[in-house]
Amino acid sequence: MRKILVIGIGAGNPEHMTVQAIKALNRADVLLIPTKGAEKAYLAEVRREICDRFLENPACRILDYAVPVRRADGSYEDGVHDWHRAIAAIYERTLLDELGEDQTLGLLVWGDPMLYDSTLRIVGHVRDVGRVAFGTEVVPGITSVQALCAGHGIALNRIGLPVEITTGRRLAEGWPESARDALVMLDGVQAFRTVTDPEAEIWWGAYLGTPHEILLSGKLADVAEAITETRAKAREEHGWIMDTYLIRRPAGEEEAA
Ligand SMILES: C[S@@+](CC[C@H](N)C(=O)[O-])C[C@H]1O[C@@H](n2cnc3c(N)ncnc32)[C@H](O)[C@@H]1O
Repeated sequence: MRKILVIGIGAGNPEHMTVQAIKALNRADVLLIPTKGAEKAYLAEVRREICDRFLENPACRILDYAVPVRRADGSYEDGVHDWHRAIAAIYERTLLDELGEDQTLGLLVWGDPMLYDSTLRIVGHVRDVGRVAFGTEVVPGITSVQALCAGHGIALNRIGLPVEITTGRRLAEGWPESARDALVMLDGVQAFRTVTDPEAEIWWGAYLGTPHEILLSGKLADVAEAITETRAKAREEHGWIMDTYLIRRPAGEEEAA
């Protein structure tokens, strides 16, 4: 039976590749590499560097595919749904046209496939459509959350306290009710500026794990402006940015006990 190997490749540093991920890479007969746009071009470059460094299977074929563009009209959910279907069609065609009966397709997923990544959902669509039978195996990777915490030398959680992992879009709608600590990803709106707690602290990181890595931290009220400016400048310079941050608000006494 054909197989899809979903391999977490880490968040930007090829050395995030685990031994398990390297072994998985070398089990693939075909690797699919997404391309398009400045950010995607950089991500494709990291994937290629990973293949140059770790791929020892000369028979493995690396195929590029242009990531379909997500529709901006209509609802966000409909746009994402159609976008996923379009990518699912690419996976399906690759399985049918490029792989033999017992061959393996490797998908190199940024960070870890379980964190704000749709690859597993898209693979699920291909399975649901049912035109091609295949098995799936997932290999975990180093996430940008781990890279952020390692960069700052901090633990993600405080003792006994929860951390809400959320998006910039959601944080901009209001502080999450269930936690005093929020780890924010996919923030195109710099939602940290909406947090008004004067005691809040932030640990921010951009291009984590890459040679362009930037780390800033401190009391949010003191560093928010510097983060906004640094972010805008870096984005202008590189043509894209990926950033992640942790915000901690002081825990009430009952919460910290
Ligand atoms: C689609 S999600 C993918 C997350 C990925 N699966 C992971 O495990 O980190 C993309 C978001 O992850 C974060 N991210 C991924 N790589 C990053 C990096 N090298 N530096 C900073 N943030 C990163 C950013 O918040 C970005 O908007």
